[in-house]
Amino acid sequence: MLLDDSYKEIKDMVAKFSDNDVAPLAASIDKNGEMPKEIIQKLGENGLLGSYIPEEYGGAGMDYLSYAMIVEELSRNCGSTGVFVSAHTSLCVWPILEFANEEQKKKYLPKLASGENIGCFCLSEPNAGTDAGSLKTFAEDKGDYYELNGTKNWITNGKEADIAIVFAKTEKTDDYRGISAFIVETKWDGFSIIKEEDKLGIKGSSTCSLAFDKIKVPKENLLGPEKKGFKIAMATLDGGRIGIASQALGIAEGAFRYCRRYATERVQFGKPISALQAIQFKIADMSTKIAASRLMIYHASMLKDKKMNYTKESAHAKLFAAETAMWVTTQAIQVLGGNGYTKEYPVERMFRDAKITEIYEGTSEIQRVVIAANEFKEVQ
Ligand code: CAA
Repeated sequence: MLLDDSYKEIKDMVAKFSDNDVAPLAASIDKNGEMPKEIIQKLGENGLLGSYIPEEYGGAGMDYLSYAMIVEELSRNCGSTGVFVSAHTSLCVWPILEFANEEQKKKYLPKLASGENIGCFCLSEPNAGTDAGSLKTFAEDKGDYYELNGTKNWITNGKEADIAIVFAKTEKTDDYRGISAFIVETKWDGFSIIKEEDKLGIKGSSTCSLAFDKIKVPKENLLGPEKKGFKIAMATLDGGRIGIASQALGIAEGAFRYCRRYATERVQFGKPISALQAIQFKIADMSTKIAASRLMIYHASMLKDKKMNYTKESAHAKLFAAETAMWVTTQAIQVLGGNGYTKEYPVERMFRDAKITEIYEGTSEIQRVVIAANEFKEVQ
């Protein structure tokens, strides 16, 4: 895809940061299961946590396509770092930018832009995952505040977050109609982390269960109109899916580049294995699927930047890029053979990191549901 030089500059800048500052720590981030404070600080200093925030609120004023490239380049070396930025930006910053009033934007965006505050998104619950509309967390109107009670799980950045976008019912309904959205500060009384998951991959990205016990949420922290929370959540996930697709693309690209080089250096039967057609075919298929994923992601981002409908296109991108990441990382291990199966080589970590992209912010099955629903809508 031919892009303006300004995009090339952004991509090159983040690629350098990713290669110099993230890559050397990627294996230890995976081993220690922790996002180092120094990485968070550097992400903030380099404007990568506020890329999509307008300059008037302290951000870098970039567009969504640039942000997608940032997540791609970070994830090329470290899927955990990629999703840390993605969950913060797509799932916390974006709904504030889109649905918050001016006071809320002025209060919360500058610190989210600098990295002084980290964001997360609290929709899923133990019994409300894919069926997000059936959530049970409740915010009772107590006059001058809401009292928030409930439990959320699978919360990316749950351990690091200062600001949470929380979805709770303000009216007891059986479906999504009673859901409202709130901006909640995790320093408030009644907030606690009750569990941190020990996962297969993206080990440096925290995934937590959070409890809200009688949290007093000021009335002014309602995000958007009351009982419009489900639409806010769905619209947010449309953009979030571009972020996860970009994470998947970066992981696939990282594994691809590693095994492509390896194939030129590994000698068997007296020649580099890159001379074997069995390897060449894999490299060609990886290259093709990665290129197609990138086109889908950039296309969905451009639609979003032009404020056009992009629900189907972001689901296309997430579905295709996630399945590509899983396929490419599997093939990358195959190219490395036994070496690829060991922790001495990064493709093993990339393979484990890729799997989550088929699961979070809607499984691949849910992306198919969204795509099919939008296709049939077009018949009417
Ligand atoms: N944008 C805006 N509004 C939307 C929308 C969108 N993309 N999609 C649906 N809506 C609206 C509809 O218009 C409808 O509103 P009306 O009643 O006014 O017409 C309303 O929302 C309900 O729509 P549906 O009937 O289509 O909703 P549904 O209950 O059948 O659910 C679903 C559809 C696709 C299954 C949806 O529930 C879904 O996406 N589920 C997956 C949720 C998910 O991804 N969870 C994980 C989130 S976060 C996470 O992974 C953790 C993390 O930290 C990363």
